[in-house]
This record gives sequence, structure tokens and C-alpha cells, in this order.
Amino acid sequence: MYEGLLKQYKECLPITENTPMISLAEGNTPLIPLHNLSKELGITLYGKYEGLNPTGSFKDRGMVMAVAKAVEDGAKAIICASTGNTSAAAAAYATRAGIKAYVVIPDGKIAMGKLAQAIAYGADIISIPGNFDEALKAVRDIAETEAVALVNSVNPYRLEGQKTAAFEICEQLEKAPDVLAIPVGNAGNISAYWKGFKEWHDVKGTDLPRMHGFEAEGAAAIVRGEVIEEPETVATAIRIGNPASWTLAEAARDESNGHIDAVTDEEILNAYRKVAAQDGVFVEPGSAASLAGVIQHVKSGKIKPGETVVTIFTGNGLKDPDTAINETNVQISKMSDLEDMRQHLKEGVAKL
Ligand code: F0G
Repeated sequence: MYEGLLKQYKECLPITENTPMISLAEGNTPLIPLHNLSKELGITLYGKYEGLNPTGSFKDRGMVMAVAKAVEDGAKAIICASTGNTSAAAAAYATRAGIKAYVVIPDGKIAMGKLAQAIAYGADIISIPGNFDEALKAVRDIAETEAVALVNSVNPYRLEGQKTAAFEICEQLEKAPDVLAIPVGNAGNISAYWKGFKEWHDVKGTDLPRMHGFEAEGAAAIVRGEVIEEPETVATAIRIGNPASWTLAEAARDESNGHIDAVTDEEILNAYRKVAAQDGVFVEPGSAASLAGVIQHVKSGKIKPGETVVTIFTGNGLKDPDTAINETNVQISKMSDLEDMRQHLKEGVAKL
């Protein structure tokens, strides 16, 4: 039976005999071949569907490790700033480990599904008027003086857990892809994947991908080379103007001969609708930034015809029902009797 990441990759993680082997059976997510998009783009495209983790995002990989280490070190509480997914994962794993989670979120800028999760798992939820960057600064300060373990991705155990996704991709493809496309927010995940690909290659000789990271245009600090004081994007998950792992992300880009580029909200929403409507995979807008980037790079030639590309779908589409409904041309046919329904169907089927 699959028992989660700590057991699965014990030898590659900072686990000691005192580390509690907590698990919600995170990881082991599918690598879905995106047949229709592959054909359209002229590449071999896969989506690593991290939305199928227990709390619906890749954050579970890092959080299981960070919470295990916090418990090992005697912590009774953890704290994080979050655009939503980190808070859901922190809340779930803290509950699982029997400790308290404090989550600090930007007021009004968190997708409803994520807030619902933090509530359900029983976190202490603190909302601030500022953005994610301000929330992160606040929790970093607080964790210096108070008896709480900081579990944002500045905690190195988070990246250790998150690197396991690169291991899985190499195992699933039996080699590294040519290109790894990934959304960039606080820039922890791109750094974790690169670490994972390098470590797996050192042991198994699976080769290294080019790392193609994508920021939302209104929050593209790394692309512009400057902190963005008031980041804005429909992709609230990556609405971050001062990424904590900025230097690590640039190193991943440069060492891998990759790129970090910006995608507009329009490109994000186009990719978001496309992958659900054409290939049946529903991801959250922040996750669609990676596919938007793939489409952009196929056009610009940064991804070449026939290449094998893995795009990371970091979070589940169900996290953000408001965007799904407001940004899609919703067609719901209201009908009250069976005959109307029959007629509707007849007309529809006749056109197929
Ligand atoms: N995709 C999703 C769905 C995310 O939630 C995040 C980050 C990212 C991509 C970017 O990853 O920060 O490692 O570059 N979400 C954080 C949070 C900030 O609080 O949930 P990153």
C-alpha cells in the first residue's frame, strides 16, 4: 500500500529515527498525457496533476515534511502566510499531527475553496489588509520571537518535500522531460523541482530538463528584475511581488538553460479554459500559468516541435469556483419538464 512521501522517499529526505512518519498519502500524483493539446501544439505534453494531492495542491509534499520536522523539534504550533494553498495544507497536516496551525491570508484575495479548507481543518485564520508579501514579512517576524514554527517555503524542509515531484516525473517517464514548465509565485517550487531533478540524475542518470518558469504579468518581479509593490493577477495563488526564493529560482533557470517569463491574465485564462474543455483536466488559474507559458514558448520557439514537455498543474480547479463561473461563458439551460429536456437533447444530438 502506498503510504505517502516520507516512507516512499525516506532515503532522499532529512528523516531521522525521531521523525514522526505522518501521512495523508500525499504525492504519487498522475502524469496525464494531454493528447489534444499535444496534437495542437506539435509536442508531447503531459500534465503532472498536483491537484490530486489530499488537500488539492502540491503544497502537501512540502508540508508533510515541514510539519514532521516541526513536531520532531517539539513545536506545538506552526504559522504561515498564504495565498490559500499553503494555508490549507498547513491546516490539514497540523490537525493530523495534533498541533495548531495559524494561517495569515490577504483579505479578500483568497479563493473560496482554499478558505473553506482552512476553516474545515480547524486552523486559526488571521486575515490582514495587505498582500501576501506583507503577510510573509509579518509571520517571519513573529516566528522569530514566538513559540511557533514557520512553515512557508523559506523553511528548507518545504523544498525537501516538494522536490519529490521531480523524482516521480523521472520515474513515470523513465527519464527527465526536455522541458519542465511551472508557475512561479514565491519561487519555492521551481527551486525544489530543480533540486529534485539534479539529485535524481546524480543517482539514476535520468538527465536534466530545461526549467521554464512563468510569473503572472502583473506580479512578474523576477522577469522585471524589481520588487512589485502591488502585484495583481486573476491567478491569486501567484499574486506575489517579492518572491522569497528569487535567487534560487534564477539559479534553476540559469543552470538548466531555461527561462522565466511572464504570461498575461488573458493567456492564463485562455489556458485555464482550454485544458478543461479540450483535455478534461480542471486546474486552478495559478496552475494554468504553466500551460499558458508552454503555449507562448511553442509560438516563440523556446520549446521546439516534438519536444517532451511536462507542465505542472499545481492546484485543483475546484479550489476557485468563482473564477470558474465568472470567467467562463456559462451555459445552463433551465428546464422544468421532461418534454423540453427531450427536445433540447434531440436538437443537440442532431448537430453532432
Ligand atoms: N501554483 C499554486 C496553485 C500555488 O498555490 C502557488 C503558491 C504556486 C503555484 C507558486 O508556487 O510560490 O512555490 O512559486 N502558493 C503559495 C500559497 C504562495 O500561499 O499557497 P511557488
